[in-house]
Amino acid sequence: MPQIEIVKGVYSVGAIDWDRTVFDELIPLPEGTSYNAYLIKGSEKTALIDTVDPAKTDVLLANLKKAGVERIDYIVASHAEQDHSGSIPAVLEKYPDAVVVTNAKCRGFLMDLLHIPEGKFVEVKDGEELSLGDRTLRFLFTPWVHWPETMSTYLVEDRILFTCDFFGSHLATSKLFAEDHYDVYTGAKRYYAEIMMPFRTIIRKNVAMVEELNPAIIAPSHGPLYRNVSFIIDAYKEWLSDDTLENMVVIGYVSMHDSTRIMAERLASSLIERGVHVKMFNLVTGDTGEFAMSLVDAATLIIATPTVLSGPHPAALYATYLASALRPKMKFFGIMGSYGWGGRTADILNGIMSLKVERLEPLLIKGLPDEDGLKKVEEMAENIRRLHEEAGLIKPE
Ligand code: FEO
Repeated sequence: MPQIEIVKGVYSVGAIDWDRTVFDELIPLPEGTSYNAYLIKGSEKTALIDTVDPAKTDVLLANLKKAGVERIDYIVASHAEQDHSGSIPAVLEKYPDAVVVTNAKCRGFLMDLLHIPEGKFVEVKDGEELSLGDRTLRFLFTPWVHWPETMSTYLVEDRILFTCDFFGSHLATSKLFAEDHYDVYTGAKRYYAEIMMPFRTIIRKNVAMVEELNPAIIAPSHGPLYRNVSFIIDAYKEWLSDDTLENMVVIGYVSMHDSTRIMAERLASSLIERGVHVKMFNLVTGDTGEFAMSLVDAATLIIATPTVLSGPHPAALYATYLASALRPKMKFFGIMGSYGWGGRTADILNGIMSLKVERLEPLLIKGLPDEDGLKKVEEMAENIRRLHEEAGLIKPE
């Protein structure tokens, strides 16, 4: 991203990463990402809000040069994860008068992760302000969006809130502001599902704080900025709320010789016939991000797997572990599949699932399901429909 003026004297100086396809060696990035950094020129001091992933250090330094920056006084570190902090050492080298402004927890992380010397830090407290002359930075601690040290910075006079990962989206775009809300909604929901959902409860407080603050612009460190701030705040409120659970079953399936696939597909069609919505995911070839996104609102997760080497297929194991770690608001969890001669598939998957959910009776069928086996699948669908009805997710017939 070239340096772009957001308002007079405030620039976006980060980098777009069009080519990145996976994040943390875990999260698929079908639309790339960006590492946004922001330069604020006050009448007396200049501040840089965050840096970029080390792979894009050259872009950041070039943008600072284009913006005519000869001196940086403060590098504000909102979050220690290296996609935002990783270029701090290079910026300190180029601008040796700069100090790193952050909270005590983040300072500790940055010393551990990047070996920045303790003497280069200025510690700030929650709510503390720092003057740039005619502009003021106010630091607002927003723990767990994404790590415990994460904070936002509010540019008081311009009412711009720099939120780092909070409200971010893995979306490479040349547009500075979110304009196509459909694209951004999907990208932001994917980001929420993969990064924020595990900390759902505590994030509610952070959202309430931002709503109360009512900034004119929300400037995250991934994806576009928001002038229509209520759009992204309302989306977060919807995703976070327990009241927005949907009459939806996510069926994650893997099948080696079609027996489990036949069961999963019969379950899907039986649920649809009963007025229950379904999303099916092939756990081997599907997009993990889509799977995570579908869990944001779904009431039920069913893992369908063959028994392999006396346990679940590794793809089913991974999906169950991931769903458990992401901590969605779902209420019901079930296991189904085909086996050849025994095994501990249900015990292993139920052991991995750590959420406080109601567990359905596992349905494991020997070999290719016959009519009797498929009848049991339909009974499972009816059981799920009843549970959804009892949970108030569908109206009684
Ligand atoms: Fe974008 Fe948690 O780093």
